[in-house]
Amino acid sequence: MHKNQFSHCERILVNVRMATLDPAVGAPYGLLDSHILAICQGRIAKLLPRHEADLSDFDGEIIDGQGGWLTPGLIDSHTHLVYGGHRAREFEQRLLGKSYEEISRAGGGILSTVRATRGLSQEQLVVQARPRLEALLGEGVTTVEIKSGYGLTVADELKILRAAKALVAEYPVRVSTTLLAAHCVPPEFRSEPDRYVEVICQELLPQVVEEHLADAVDVFCETIAFTLQQSERIFAAARQAGLGIKVHAEQLSLSGGAALAAGFGAWSADHLEHLDEAGILALQASGTVATLLPGAFYFLQEHRKPPVGLLRHHGVPMALATDLNPGTSPLASLRLMLNMGCTLFGLTPEEALAGVTRNAAKALGQGDVLGTLHVGKQADLLLWDIEHPAQLAGEFGSLRPRQRIVRGEVVHASHG
Ligand code: NIG
Ligand code: FE
Repeated sequence: MHKNQFSHCERILVNVRMATLDPAVGAPYGLLDSHILAICQGRIAKLLPRHEADLSDFDGEIIDGQGGWLTPGLIDSHTHLVYGGHRAREFEQRLLGKSYEEISRAGGGILSTVRATRGLSQEQLVVQARPRLEALLGEGVTTVEIKSGYGLTVADELKILRAAKALVAEYPVRVSTTLLAAHCVPPEFRSEPDRYVEVICQELLPQVVEEHLADAVDVFCETIAFTLQQSERIFAAARQAGLGIKVHAEQLSLSGGAALAAGFGAWSADHLEHLDEAGILALQASGTVATLLPGAFYFLQEHRKPPVGLLRHHGVPMALATDLNPGTSPLASLRLMLNMGCTLFGLTPEEALAGVTRNAAKALGQGDVLGTLHVGKQADLLLWDIEHPAQLAGEFGSLRPRQRIVRGEVVHASHG
């Protein structure tokens, strides 16, 4: 043992059981018992067996976990949480037998939220989005992805991304923003969708890059949205601009969007209910994460499930996310998705937890810095009063993290 082995550390967690989610640990959930975790400058600096740690000279903060479980912070890697209004009337229509596609073709769906969102200022959007973000944070979300996509003009898409950044700056949380201008063809371009694609690539994207407003670009590749050719043009422009690539694909039909995005080295392909084996092999080859969205599947009362068995068989990493949006998943709970990922899609509780930590980090291009308890990664941590990590997927509604640590700092309840 060396003296002053923690001299630059701010805090040390002791008396915890760790679900590191690190496969290299070689135990279920990456379990590490009888270890301590030291935080220096916001990062995980040491993970040591308790008996190798000499805390006698340590003058920072010692957090006694009292035998609770420590996990990485939860990551919601797919949300559309900045939008105006609500779509509860469409929920009523769908319950009376209308399909999501019918409503959407009749000018409802995404376009009805576009009308509501265009009518709000950046500040008004922040106000409406605040409770959604707070719901996620209270459950232990420490990183959230937020997409644009309900503006569909240069000014309105920029407004949404700026609102997302302004909102998140109020809270102890990391954000990854995604430009989803290709969410729906706007009414102004109905007869010339290719012109809209041009506007995205030539006008909007350069401004987004200039203002550092997005980390990635996403496209809704679907019969009711953008074709493969249009998606390809947008991915090429995104790659040129140095941004990550994500795709909404194979949700309502098999379009080949996931394989196309994989060919561009996409971080993730999302939804995937109709994905075939060729698509799975494409994801495998590019290391693209398959992001499953059980909230949308549940809320649309879909029947076709994503091919979880085949994804597992081919070793494609699977993430789970809320897809929080007004039309297909107005469900502001990542913990609910853990449960639904198991009950509806057949994930194990361990796969579900990996889906909102390790694999969610990869889905945001941040697998090297977030998502597991590993020396060198960012210290975004949750302390839970549970007896087993399967409770995080198996129980719902009564569990909240006892303590949250973001960027190495303890979060106080009043800060979201
Ligand atoms: O991820 N699939 C496309 N976009 C959203 C739905 C958006 C909406 O209906 O407003 C989704 O499910
Ligand atoms: Fe989505």
